[in-house]
Amino acid sequence: MKNTVVAAVCTAAMLLAANANGAADVESRVNELLAKMTLEEKIGQLSQSAGAPASMAAGLESQDMSKANPDDRLFAAVREGRIGSLIGRRGVKKYNELQRAAMSGRLGIPLLVGHDMIHSAKTCYPIPLALSCAWDEDLWERVGAAMAPESILQGCNWTFTPMVDVALDARWGRIAEGAGSDSLVTSLFGAAMVRGLQGEDMADGFHIAACAKHFVAYGAAMGGRDYNAVEMSDDTLRDVYLPPFRAAVEAGVATVMPAFHSFNGIPCSVNRYLLTDILRREFGFDGMTISDYAAVKECTVACHGVAEEGADVAAKALYAGMDMEMVSENYANGVAEALKKGLLKRETLDNAVRNILRVKFRLGLFDHPEIDEDAVSKKVDLAANLALARECAQKGVVVLKNDGVLPLKKESKIAVVGDLADDWKDMFGCWAGSGVSNSKDTKLIEGFKVDGACAKYSRCYNMDGKLDEKELRRAAGEADVVVAAFGEYSRENGENNSKVRIELNPVQLKVLDILAATKKPFVAVVFTGRPLAMPELARKANAVAVAWNLGSAAGLGIADVLLGEVEPWGRLTTDFPNASGECPKFYSRTTTGRPNGTYEQGPRWSTRYRDAPDKSVWPFGFGLAYTTFEYANESARVDGDKVVFSADVKNTGARKGTELVQVYVRDVLAETVRPRRQLKGFKRVALEPGETQKVEVEVPVASLGYTLNGKYRVEPGAFEAWIAPHSDVGRKIGFELK
Ligand code: NOJ
Repeated sequence: MKNTVVAAVCTAAMLLAANANGAADVESRVNELLAKMTLEEKIGQLSQSAGAPASMAAGLESQDMSKANPDDRLFAAVREGRIGSLIGRRGVKKYNELQRAAMSGRLGIPLLVGHDMIHSAKTCYPIPLALSCAWDEDLWERVGAAMAPESILQGCNWTFTPMVDVALDARWGRIAEGAGSDSLVTSLFGAAMVRGLQGEDMADGFHIAACAKHFVAYGAAMGGRDYNAVEMSDDTLRDVYLPPFRAAVEAGVATVMPAFHSFNGIPCSVNRYLLTDILRREFGFDGMTISDYAAVKECTVACHGVAEEGADVAAKALYAGMDMEMVSENYANGVAEALKKGLLKRETLDNAVRNILRVKFRLGLFDHPEIDEDAVSKKVDLAANLALARECAQKGVVVLKNDGVLPLKKESKIAVVGDLADDWKDMFGCWAGSGVSNSKDTKLIEGFKVDGACAKYSRCYNMDGKLDEKELRRAAGEADVVVAAFGEYSRENGENNSKVRIELNPVQLKVLDILAATKKPFVAVVFTGRPLAMPELARKANAVAVAWNLGSAAGLGIADVLLGEVEPWGRLTTDFPNASGECPKFYSRTTTGRPNGTYEQGPRWSTRYRDAPDKSVWPFGFGLAYTTFEYANESARVDGDKVVFSADVKNTGARKGTELVQVYVRDVLAETVRPRRQLKGFKRVALEPGETQKVEVEVPVASLGYTLNGKYRVEPGAFEAWIAPHSDVGRKIGFELK
């Protein structure tokens, strides 16, 4: 792609007019091109391939290409227009060669080239769950903007991110890939990522197409088991799972990926209600949909069992609103037959092709199919990106417990133990890909050294295997303070890494006991892609910090926080449960007829687990600073179409710090049972020791409603609210909507 220079003197009005004309122009170019396309060329556009498609073998026999090497076959397929898109990164040189091949075809239609650059291309940023703990839209947008040119240099114009699946269940491995358990948080950060990746003009040569996935409610898979069926009311779908997708569409996301699972009995890939009625008609989405990997094929008899392979499933998926098929070849093999048999209308096919071409035009690929490597390289400042990764890492760490041992003193003798403290690969997390760069800042032990701390490393144990008890006692014995790694390897979360047990394993529990017995103060640093159930850690460690998988600058970012070089900033975006058996455990659960804590017949009859406390070990929104805050004068005032929540927040400690002021609301009397609390807004405030600031958070009245029988409504009447540091505390106040 070449840079098209937009004159800096453009006024906003000129830009708006240009955009409107641009849209009309795109539409007429799409239609003009479509009118020239043969059926084969249209089918080609619907197919995304990882290499030369198997379905082309027959066609190539006549050209004596069937025995050609895979690369030659791929180029032949591209030239012939049998492929609309490729998956995978092949570098700029190959990308440009492939685009030249595509443009030399009869109609010269460029390729979409997509890959999973989820939180990294070259520089690795924290996994999305970790980044969400920064509660910082601007940071998400900056990460997207920094990832875009790095991704282009990998030979891509499209990435399959952001994942905007609300995830309530810590057993589900893919909780790592999203922004946690709250719909508002997921909406804000997903949309920010779209804006960052796509920029104001996706065709400017430095941005790429984003993909909101997985449409929809994938995070509600039964039992937290990946790919499992989802059954849910339409109202819950609308209130919890759809808003982040709507936000992504409103942010202009170019593509949407339907999910693998079946939703109320119909696989998302062939679910017309979801893909057409909701996504297209209600949300007005006019980009393209791309199936998940082989997901169209997975609707057939061997898997979901709702269609026959070939024409049947192709017709069903296209009718539902699935524009492009990823890697399986039912569209390539079945569309012509489906048309012939009358299973598929030409209009349906044409609409799918239109959606795909529209994205290609919007990306500017017809005008600038090739990557201008020099221009893009100039946009990539690896040192600046590493600094951004460090900022993300600092902000993603969440301090969960601290009896005063943190911040560590640089000059005290720090023993660092556990294999994950000397590991760089696991700092990257799931979906980091192979191209990411590690540096001296990636390992925790190196981070301490770069920050100039007196830290000595001894492995002593692996997360899941060997433990050298003697060495652990020795290392602790020689130190003033121990920093011990806990958690899980990054291969244990992400896609299809669901777990029935999310507790610390026996090795880690043993390490915990040994360290506790030494009486040396110790800090547990937890590397993980999901919330873990670790009440023992909460009891026995002197301090606990969850460090997730924080990317290229993980070590340095964590050390910065532990040593007090920066003040702790992160707050949880999911609950940390007491035990696996509580999952899904989430703060916004609905009230019951026998509410815990307030039920008149007492605790014996109020909802509970017999063998676990009702409260999470660490709840949604929780996170400590190195100072303390006090809230006073909480109030809520309805002002036209908004409610203004206000509180005086005071820094009552001796250090400066930032507090994340959160606003939770409950509709007291409604037609349906409502969540016990729901996040409606938040604001960060930086306070010097002793300083008080009045913090105001404005919440639109329109956001205080819920869906009943498919219709969104805001009910007048009484509401309860909490302006609080997390979802389990705060003074209850009230307000009324007329
Ligand atoms: C499967 C995953 O579900 C999806 O998130 C990913 O984008 C595709 N594979 C492509 O790798």
